[in-house]
Amino acid sequence: MSDSTARQLDEASPVLAIDGLGVEFASEHGWLRVLDEVSFAVGPRETVGLVGESGSGKSVTSLSVLGLLPRRSSRVVGDIRLRGRELGGLSTAELEDVRGREIAMIFQEPMTSLNPAFTIGDQIVAVVRRHLGWTKKQARAHAIEMLGHVGIPNPRQRVSEYPHQFSGGMRQRAMIALALSCRPRLLIADEPTTALDVTIQAQILDLIREMAEENDMSVLFVTHDLGVVADICDRVVVMYAGQVVEEGTAEEVFCTPRHPYTEGLLRAMPDVEDHVRELVPIPGTVPPPWEFPAGCRFADRCSYAQDRCRQPVALTELGPRRAVRCHRFDELDLEGAS
Ligand SMILES: Nc1ncnc2c1ncn2[C@@H]1O[C@H](COP(=O)(O)OP(=O)(O)O)[C@@H](O)[C@H]1O
Ligand SMILES: [Mg+2]
Repeated sequence: MSDSTARQLDEASPVLAIDGLGVEFASEHGWLRVLDEVSFAVGPRETVGLVGESGSGKSVTSLSVLGLLPRRSSRVVGDIRLRGRELGGLSTAELEDVRGREIAMIFQEPMTSLNPAFTIGDQIVAVVRRHLGWTKKQARAHAIEMLGHVGIPNPRQRVSEYPHQFSGGMRQRAMIALALSCRPRLLIADEPTTALDVTIQAQILDLIREMAEENDMSVLFVTHDLGVVADICDRVVVMYAGQVVEEGTAEEVFCTPRHPYTEGLLRAMPDVEDHVRELVPIPGTVPPPWEFPAGCRFADRCSYAQDRCRQPVALTELGPRRAVRCHRFDELDLEGAS
């Protein structure tokens, strides 16, 4: 295959394709299905927001991609492909190679990825040597460069410091430097800014956006905060109670939502332009998996629900990568963000 044909194929095929993902956990209630038929894709250089309230199944989805669900107490069905390669069949060693090298992950709590016992520099050096096979000297120079890149002042000195010597925002940056040090194809960011104050949150979002552009990296951005999605995402996948309930471009989902849950999330979100507007929270909470309703899972909290909403509801394709899971989507005139 010529280089240009390879590149064209690369352009056309998604970096990450999740197809019919289902996850069950062992529990006192028996095997509990927490994810149901989750399908979506992340294209080259695309940033996709995975959005929903706490308990929707966002983290379980991202952990499935990384092969990080507990082996004994979980069962996974469906297909997860990274640039066409099925991840489900990989051995533990192969998966460890994929993690860090091709897919990197950052979390809300930087200390889940940073080791308190090693300097930041040594941690970056270790992953770069392992995944890219570089010499110690090259890896150290790269570590300093990465720290500078993510906006850590004085990287030559800080490379020899331990995580506890960094402030919260700087530690978040160090985690990003570590995650991106092998130039992964895909970054999975699970609520990376949730614990930070607004100013630092905005800086970290800018940083993720810049790093994605510079490195031709795709991003799966997991958050409960639609405001963050508006800032950073090209596309949005809305999850509720373990299912995808709506998918579209960021513009479609924000301006012309088709699912009452999406409309509810938008109403509960502070206005982008800070106009004075009443925030309307969605009543109730996401049910736990053992209480998922047999029909539309959102019906109990939905102001538009009718009798037929007690029947199971499939995801309807409205167009390419535009879908909604609602019995009444065709008759409702929902309100988008102003
Ligand atoms: N290891 C686990 N064992 C059993 N249940 C789990 C486990 N991890 C998550 N769950 C359940 O799966 C559901 C989805 O959780 P999660 O993906 O963490 O939601 P989100 O990230 O959207 O807040 C929740 O009901 C949660 O309690
Ligand atoms: Mg989560």
